[in-house]
Amino acid sequence: MSEKYDVVDVIRTKRDGDPLSCGQIDWTIDAYTRGVVGDEQMAALAMAIFLKGMNREEIARWTQAMINSGETMDFSSLPRKTADKHSTGGVGDKITLPLAPLVAAFDVAVPQLSGRGLGHTGGTLDKLESIPGWRADLSNEQIMQILGTGPGAVVCAAGAGLAPADKKLYALRDVTSTVDCIPLIASSIMSKKIAEGTDSLVLDVKVGSGAFMKDLEAARELASTMVDLGTDAGVRTTALLTDMSTPLGLTAGNALEVREAVEVLAGGGPADVVELTLALAKEMLTAAGYADADPQAALQDGRAMDRWRQMITAQGGDPDAPLPQARETEDVVAPTDGYLTKLDALAVGVAAWRLGAGRAKKGDPVQAEAGVEMFAKPGNRVRKGQPLLRLHTQTPDRFDRALEVLDGAFEIAQSAPTTRPVVLDRIC
Ligand code: URA
Repeated sequence: MSEKYDVVDVIRTKRDGDPLSCGQIDWTIDAYTRGVVGDEQMAALAMAIFLKGMNREEIARWTQAMINSGETMDFSSLPRKTADKHSTGGVGDKITLPLAPLVAAFDVAVPQLSGRGLGHTGGTLDKLESIPGWRADLSNEQIMQILGTGPGAVVCAAGAGLAPADKKLYALRDVTSTVDCIPLIASSIMSKKIAEGTDSLVLDVKVGSGAFMKDLEAARELASTMVDLGTDAGVRTTALLTDMSTPLGLTAGNALEVREAVEVLAGGGPADVVELTLALAKEMLTAAGYADADPQAALQDGRAMDRWRQMITAQGGDPDAPLPQARETEDVVAPTDGYLTKLDALAVGVAAWRLGAGRAKKGDPVQAEAGVEMFAKPGNRVRKGQPLLRLHTQTPDRFDRALEVLDGAFEIAQSAPTTRPVVLDRIC
């Protein structure tokens, strides 16, 4: 079959800083999915996009072309409105766990098609798999049943058929240093979310050392690009910019984070996790038409916990089973009295990963038990000798490498720091 375009011309167009035409974009994504455009050619194009950028029209067309590369889901037959949340990824980000059942407690369907962790940010599926019996692989019929007449919240692996061009391109970007590029991140995330067919979406765009976006301006640009893409595709989309300079909550690691999420569902838990869960719940409930709903009350009176138990049971898990615990722990103690002024998200994330909580490459196993438990947050007063961090692992030969990355990860000073709020801005 003769092809409509020559990929070398497409690469040259972008290399020279000119916008790609709709025809060029549609053909390139389709030809890449078919294998006619090779990885080396797509890598060159991704690097040209990284260096020269794309305008809003190009990003929208690129996103639509990736949606068109596969199947789409349709929740319109469900008796409930659908509301989804996507986080750009951070350390200790267990928010989906309390958030999904909390929103479902108001009779809103929450389809959380999630991924596995790669690198220093943990994956929601890996966290939930630390619950004995729980499984992520569901058929489309099971997903529809849980969302429609079951507990209303489902967390499962995204099917391979959704935006396959993105799957191929994301793996390529990962090995060609073209991940942290706003047009490519925005189109990658939004192609999957739009293909999933949710009525509304709230984006949690992380800012800080533990996130893709290290500064507020870049995060704002990413958020507004994604909000525009969602809105133009008919998905009610808003975004919160949230702090990721320090880990969320007091745990990073799979079973450790499930334990903390259950504390939040029981009406307790760390203040920052509760605050962000409630802020995101408010966004989702408002988008679904329940602006007056009171999610805080549902955390306090057990409605969210009831949904959590149903949601775990519906996916084969035992909500009463004890969570796995690490055989080995080692503490890092405060070297002096004072105020904790810094606890770096990236360092804690990499430490948890090195302890076994994350994977170095796709398909590697993860330890449910591994991770980092924290005993103080920036702003807290600490005493010399008190444990600041507890490292958990099944394999103690990992302690040294984890401790190495934690060297310099925290600072203690004599005066209290000004702390950043969790929610830094809202984009709609
Ligand atoms: N997550 C995605 O799905 N895609 C990106 O490009 C970055 C984060």
